[in-house]
Amino acid sequence: MPTENPLPAAPEPVSERLLTPAMVEEIRAFFPRYPNRLAVTLPALHVVNEHLRYVPLQAVVEVAELLELHPSQVQDTLSFYGLFKQDAPGGEVRAWVCRSISCALRGGEELLDHLCEKAQIHPGETTADGKLTLEYAECLGACEYAPCMLANQTLHKSVSKEQADAFLKSL
Ligand code: FES
Repeated sequence: MPTENPLPAAPEPVSERLLTPAMVEEIRAFFPRYPNRLAVTLPALHVVNEHLRYVPLQAVVEVAELLELHPSQVQDTLSFYGLFKQDAPGGEVRAWVCRSISCALRGGEELLDHLCEKAQIHPGETTADGKLTLEYAECLGACEYAPCMLANQTLHKSVSKEQADAFLKSL
């Protein structure tokens, strides 16, 4: 009985590489710290995301090549997380506004609406100047500071509309 290869043929990478030598080195530096290449997938995706602000399919193919995996294995990890954008780079600042229960009760939805209105975008979109992407978040683990927002690595606590305006102005 013929055996079937469960994985389709990997797409050929296009000639222009997205992963720079520096990015490849950063990813390679993880190799000794993990039991196998598959375990390096998530750190590798973070490296790409930090440099490009998204992980397009071409980068998935290149990461798979580097990790000696099938692109579908890398894509599988990527699609499990809501963090990685694939269609276009996110803004210089990606801001997640919490909409889980504590924040919702204290105006989280209204806060996001306010930010979107001021920035003239919808949730999930990036401003035309590429400075800001606004997104929903589920609980950020800081319920006592509701409503809160995570902007890149900075947690903004108990955010008022005035603070939201100041945040937008700071961009
Ligand atoms: S509900 Fe918003 S941080 Fe937990």
